[in-house]
Amino acid sequence: MTAPFEIRQQDAAGRIGELAVPRADRTVETPALLPVVNPHYRTIDPDRLSAFGVQMLITNSYIIYQDEDLRERARSEGLHELIGFDGPIMTDSGSFQLAEYGDISVTTEEILEFQAEMGSDIATPVDIPTHPDADRETVESDLAETERRLAIAESVDTGDMLVTAPVQGGTFPDLREQAGANAAATDLDVFPVGAVVPLLNNYRYAEAVDLLAAAKRGLGPSRPVHLFGAGHPMTFALMVAMGADLFDSAAYALFARDERYLTVRGTKHLEDIEEFSCTCPVCAEHDPATLRDADETTRTRLLAEHNLHVSMAEMRRIREAIREGSLLELVESRAHAHPSLLDGYRTLLDHVEQLERADRASKSTFFYLSEDSARRPEVRRHHDRLGRLDAEGPLLLTEGQSDDGYEDSWRIKPPFGPVPPALSTTYPLTAEVPERMDDSGYVAAARGVKRLVEANPETKFVVAQFDWPREAIETLPARVTVEDLGSGMGR
Ligand code: GUN
Ligand code: ZN
Repeated sequence: MTAPFEIRQQDAAGRIGELAVPRADRTVETPALLPVVNPHYRTIDPDRLSAFGVQMLITNSYIIYQDEDLRERARSEGLHELIGFDGPIMTDSGSFQLAEYGDISVTTEEILEFQAEMGSDIATPVDIPTHPDADRETVESDLAETERRLAIAESVDTGDMLVTAPVQGGTFPDLREQAGANAAATDLDVFPVGAVVPLLNNYRYAEAVDLLAAAKRGLGPSRPVHLFGAGHPMTFALMVAMGADLFDSAAYALFARDERYLTVRGTKHLEDIEEFSCTCPVCAEHDPATLRDADETTRTRLLAEHNLHVSMAEMRRIREAIREGSLLELVESRAHAHPSLLDGYRTLLDHVEQLERADRASKSTFFYLSEDSARRPEVRRHHDRLGRLDAEGPLLLTEGQSDDGYEDSWRIKPPFGPVPPALSTTYPLTAEVPERMDDSGYVAAARGVKRLVEANPETKFVVAQFDWPREAIETLPARVTVEDLGSGMGR
């Protein structure tokens, strides 16, 4: 059975989707964050989770299976009763324990049957999460084993329960892409990209973006994609923009136990906070000193609540940004909170063609926020369009006023380049750009000119510019006449 996953709105490779979860008779709006609930101890009582905006949670079937008491209760009462949550519940299989401890005592058949029996809504086979630093040979043989287990998962009778097809492949893009294509060819339903936790824990966001991009190429645009173990809210926007739809977070609870306070700009230690700037119920009602003085159980619970509020709020903000068409502005501002996130964003932009194919044509006003904005897919798309346009000459392309003596004159607007008059009031040429443009913006504009000039070999072009940097001037084709409008004061 294929899970009905409907995509409602796109922004870069991010999307608003609706995932139907038939066994729970619910739909989940994506991007969504699933809090991890440990069956042994609940940092936050699961029946309070919907008040945080939680639509679905995730727990570990292997932990339940390993514990005789929990296993028997799960069999007799059912998973939802055992956990104390009546919305959809996804279950993991023990693969993470396999990666941590090297061995687990359950097969894919057994654990899938157990997940089905106790009433899981989305179940997971025992995939092999290969460490990101493993060599190619290891990654290939682990991947072959994961793929055998996906085949077993397809053959198990799971009724109307959805089953995931994890995508492994280490940090080798070709293996990730192939694993994505293989997973998409099964009749399984949800597609988690696995073994990224060691990367994310070490701020290796650039590699995580690359392997997500590769997995997405193999999976294609229509499959719902889960990024296993990506629980820090500062990474959500970036990963959504690369096409992740589902996230799970143990971080909200694990970080709370270490007195760590999550924000969308990074992690803080409770000890170092003088004032809370967050407006969640916990931060509105407590100050840092009170939390520090509270007993450990209360402090951990309150910190976990704050951590979850911040994480859920970021997911809402991301969904709203997609609806509005400002996801890349959000990603760019998040990227500026940490140099490793900036590397992640720059890596995202390396996949500009993949993003451009998914992106929609019209969004909220494009904001140019840093030199990285010059590499956004909207700029790329405009350049591609210039490469298909007919231009009559002689044509003046100018940053200043239109001029007599030319057949025609078009404005130049960095980072886009030439603005055909008919398009001047359409997205993305309505962009808000800074008065003090940077060199990357001018170079991008010159690349736009180059595309137009190359598409019109018979046309004479004049470019009139205010003091462009040398790299931009040198990007212009030699046959373009360049005029200098002055110092830039009149820009
Ligand atoms: N949790 C975090 N990473 C993984 C993974 O690669 N596979 C599974 N099944 N669970 C995970
Ligand atoms: Zn808070």
